[in-house]
Amino acid sequence: MSRTTDILRDTFGREHTYLRISLTEKCNLRCTYCMPEEGVVLSPRSQLMTASEVVEIAKVFVENGVDKIRLTGGEPLLRKDFAEILHPLSQLPTTLTLTTNAILVDRYIEDLKKAGVQSLNVSLDTLKPEKFFTITKRDQFHKAYGNARSLLQEGFGVKLNVVLIKGFNDDEIIDFIQLTEHQNLHVRFIEFMPFDGNRWDKSKLVTQQEILTKTENYFGVDQLQILQNKANFIARNYQINGFIGRFGIISTVSNPFCDGCNRIRLTANGSIKNCLFSMSETNLLEPFRNDEPIEPIIKAVLLKKKAVRAGMDDARSFESPTNHSKNRSMITIGG
Ligand code: GTP
Ligand code: 5AD
Ligand code: SF4
Repeated sequence: MSRTTDILRDTFGREHTYLRISLTEKCNLRCTYCMPEEGVVLSPRSQLMTASEVVEIAKVFVENGVDKIRLTGGEPLLRKDFAEILHPLSQLPTTLTLTTNAILVDRYIEDLKKAGVQSLNVSLDTLKPEKFFTITKRDQFHKAYGNARSLLQEGFGVKLNVVLIKGFNDDEIIDFIQLTEHQNLHVRFIEFMPFDGNRWDKSKLVTQQEILTKTENYFGVDQLQILQNKANFIARNYQINGFIGRFGIISTVSNPFCDGCNRIRLTANGSIKNCLFSMSETNLLEPFRNDEPIEPIIKAVLLKKKAVRAGMDDARSFESPTNHSKNRSMITIGG
């Protein structure tokens, strides 16, 4: 029996049991597909959730049925009080995890273990140091790659997030899949998505179909197994026969997967978004600070949720940059 209260249910019957909390708007990398070149205007410190506010607001969600929390950023490990957030959250009856660029992960291995974190999603778009510098503007490939390997050695599950950009890293698709031959690694290729200021254009998109064609041409159609989709999936997953790990494709642009959406987002400045692409957001932090109940606000926001990509259900509306100019930049959403 579901223990979700009706505040987490939208008009399509989808239950939003997965909360993504962005802990900071800052990052130690400058990925061009995420951070606008001119930077972003940061929220004043007084408007950001403190560690205890993050925990108390998360508790309200959990009491109403959230059973998975993902910490995101910017880069969540940049928060000096990360451990003060992680440990109390780990006491809640939820799966707790994070998405990170792994640069600072070595400082937190023991904290992550103590908090019972089982797996992490690590952003890494290339296996080549020069290209890493081109995309991130920082010379940190060896640190990021080394830390991703350490996580595997320490027994964490690791999903590698690879945002594909045509002509930049699509020549590395096979190299990434080959990493899954002997390592229990889950590589996910992500279609490049449009957000405010990230200079998205369709010519840079590498679609699900293109990725599959490349893979089949290299390994052979009969070597590619299609794995069963999980409930609320966002990646369609595959495995090469005989390989230990898997790979998946997150095809938001060419083949959205919104039917089973169970995600709600809380931004670092305490606003909720009912979809990654929603242009409107609602502040929870101020009412929370005023001791007002936040449940009715959460409920109202979810009742406004659209069926697909915040209402951009066809390719033409989704691909129009003006339809993204009122959304945040990705760096301040956290994926
Ligand atoms: P798990 O499924 O819990 O492993 O996490 P995830 O893959 O959703 O999270 P992660 O932060 O690793 O994000 C991977 C990619 O999926 C990023 O490009 C995100 O922007 C994208 N993503 C995450 N959540 C959503 C979502 O609700 N909708 C869409 N369209 N994309 C999402
Ligand atoms: N398109 C697709 N994925 C993106 N991410 C950041 N920006 C984009 C984008 N424009 C991914 C990052 C990170 C996750 C949180 O979101 O690579 O792994
Ligand atoms: Fe959910 Fe919006 Fe993502 Fe679709 S695009 S899966 S509705 S968050």
